[in-house]
Amino acid sequence: MLRLENITVRFSGLVAVDNLSMIVKDRTIHSLIGPNGAGKTTVFNAISGLVKHDGRIFLDEYELTKLPVHKRVYYGIGRSFQNIIIFKYLTVLQNLMLGIHPHLDYTFFDSVFETSKFSTYERKARLKAIEVADILGIKSILGVYAGTLPYGYQKLIDVGRALMSEPKIILLDEPAAGLTEKESDIFKEKILKIKEAGLTTFLIEHDMRMVFDISDKITVINFGKKIAEGMPNEIVKSPEVISAYLGTEITQP
Ligand SMILES: Nc1ncnc2c1ncn2[C@@H]1O[C@H](COP(=O)(O)OP(=O)(O)OP(=O)(O)O)[C@@H](O)[C@H]1O
Ligand SMILES: [Mg+2]
Repeated sequence: MLRLENITVRFSGLVAVDNLSMIVKDRTIHSLIGPNGAGKTTVFNAISGLVKHDGRIFLDEYELTKLPVHKRVYYGIGRSFQNIIIFKYLTVLQNLMLGIHPHLDYTFFDSVFETSKFSTYERKARLKAIEVADILGIKSILGVYAGTLPYGYQKLIDVGRALMSEPKIILLDEPAAGLTEKESDIFKEKILKIKEAGLTTFLIEHDMRMVFDISDKITVINFGKKIAEGMPNEIVKSPEVISAYLGTEITQP
């Protein structure tokens, strides 16, 4: 369980996240929505340790508040970014294997001389990559160069890399941005598979069809403040949400 307590993030004069408290329960898909500039990505940055914040953050019994980024990954925070970074000239397998670094415990010497420690590490990374590819249904393309794949698959590799660090929770920032409707449907299925695998997903997404279809719970923020929280059928009726989206009706699929 991820718990945020009174999180505030300030950028000089601007309060980007304003005293936000919320809980993301285990093995759920929890979405964070709100208009452009509402502070969603900043919430993720606070959770991953990329921006300074007031308030406290807990993952299960561990307090993450003062920990640096890599320690937070170690305790189970995985994330993908709004702008993906894929190594085009590496295969899908190699791209995935890169994601395992938080558990890296071999030295440069080990890798140059291919000591048994390094080969154990590499074997472990390879096995984990295959396991992740299995969850995401991309085992058949592990040998393909990432740059030759359609955008939808590149996004999946990005998510796969976040899964490589054996997270308890993954933070996905607009995974469906730029995807076609068909790709986005496939993506939706993949997020459900991640849930089936026992993980928790904290999702930022503008594709309301996806959000209302797969979320167990939705938190809505505007100007950094929580304005609504509940199950999809509750959120869809919330007057605060409708007015934050400037009257645009949120239609449930
Ligand atoms: N590093 C930064 N320095 C200064 N201001 C920032 C920084 N990052 C974000 N902001 C500001 O904080 C506010 C919240 O930004 P944020 O990126 O969290 O919004 P968002 O909800 O993710 O928006 P979008 O839906 O467009 O991705 C915005 O006004 C933004 O300009
Ligand atoms: Mg954002």
